[in-house]
Amino acid sequence: MKKTVLVTGGCGFIGVNFVRLILETQKDWQVINLDKLTYAGNPESLKGVDDLAGYQFEKGDICDQALVEKLFKQYQIDTVVHFAAESHVDRSITEPTEFIQTNVLGTFSLLEAAKKAWLGDSVKADSTANRFLHVSTDEVYGSLGATGLFTETTAYDPRSPYSASKASSDHLVRAYFHTYGLPILITNCSNNYGPYQFPEKLIPLVLNNALNGKQLPVYGDGANVRDWLYVRDHCEAIVQVLKQGQTGESYNIGGHNEKKNLDVVELLCDILDQKVGLLPSGESRRSLITFVKDRLGHDRRYAIDAGKIAADLGWVPKLTFEKGIEQTVEWYLNHKDWVESVMDGSYQKYYQKMYGGEPSESKDN
Ligand code: NAD
Ligand code: DAU
Repeated sequence: MKKTVLVTGGCGFIGVNFVRLILETQKDWQVINLDKLTYAGNPESLKGVDDLAGYQFEKGDICDQALVEKLFKQYQIDTVVHFAAESHVDRSITEPTEFIQTNVLGTFSLLEAAKKAWLGDSVKADSTANRFLHVSTDEVYGSLGATGLFTETTAYDPRSPYSASKASSDHLVRAYFHTYGLPILITNCSNNYGPYQFPEKLIPLVLNNALNGKQLPVYGDGANVRDWLYVRDHCEAIVQVLKQGQTGESYNIGGHNEKKNLDVVELLCDILDQKVGLLPSGESRRSLITFVKDRLGHDRRYAIDAGKIAADLGWVPKLTFEKGIEQTVEWYLNHKDWVESVMDGSYQKYYQKMYGGEPSESKDN
């Protein structure tokens, strides 16, 4: 029998890569993609797979309880992979409301619908046929000092409205396991990069600006550390957790690729200089690097201990950062039309409100 997976946020960066992976590799699964199509959702990113028999798109809001319940019934959903969220930390600092709405109340709405559909009035200890996987972030653990790694037992200490909203939803998801026996799983992943990422996040923003000869904004001193993971590796980890994860458990997912932001930006400049040549002025793209005012409450360092998922489920990342970044640069060079089509300009307004100035321009601003 086919597994029927409700993917929320399947038109966003990780969702698109996940839907593509599933349709490519899991022939006995069907995907129902529920997405509100916010500025971050782009159905065109699924061109080429969206006409497959195992794929169905539903435009809608996860906060719409009646709609979500209807979809559970209509498609006999047995599995949920919940990506839909407001995901950009800078936006959560300037406009937090939508983060609470979607990330907290939207997750609550999905949990209620899953509870009604899978458990009805009874409270079961576990249901092997069902899985509710909440895709979460390492940011729930807060900020590390110079040493140490986040493990699954690290105390939650979220420090931005975004990470606080994700921590809230993690707690709700876990509460539905303990209280009702809803078969949940949580994954807490580090920074993803790769194809189809909206150019407001560091790597695609820098690539886009560097290609267009625009300033490359580095927050603070550029020494904040992120632990980078290629998006397909993350999606493969999610499949592994869905198939073999122990319900009620959390799994940290990370790439063992700790990098300072400035090192990442310089590397991208060097790769582009090599691939497309120096700037018309004859200078390296490194000359575009501009240190700007720091992000409020900027977490200093994230680093994941992915030992549990490796030991229990046999997942390890396949791509090194060097290989993954090379592939990512190639993808953006070959998909300039995609970048153009998603640049509606709204993220620029958030940037200006936060930091002033014009790090880059867009068509609509
Ligand atoms: P994204 O911002 O690129 O995409 C979010 C998607 O959710 C978009 O398609 C958007 O239209 C949709 N959406 C937003 N609000 C919705 C609503 N109310 N109803 C239905 N759909 C809605 O995000 P992403 O980077 O792909 O992240 C996906 C998930 O993974 C998020 O939950 C995020 O917290 C988590 N995560 C992201 C990263 C990362 O590095 N990007 C790392 C760890 C965890
Ligand atoms: O750790 C996982 C998280 O990674 C996810 O949960 C979030 O959804 C995702 O957006 C990402 O959060 P970050 O805030 O780490 O990602 P971002 O790409 O916005 O920033 C990466 C680092 O680069 C961060 O330290 C801030 C810095 N930065 C970012 C931008 C956009 C800059 O220096 N300049 C920039 O222009």
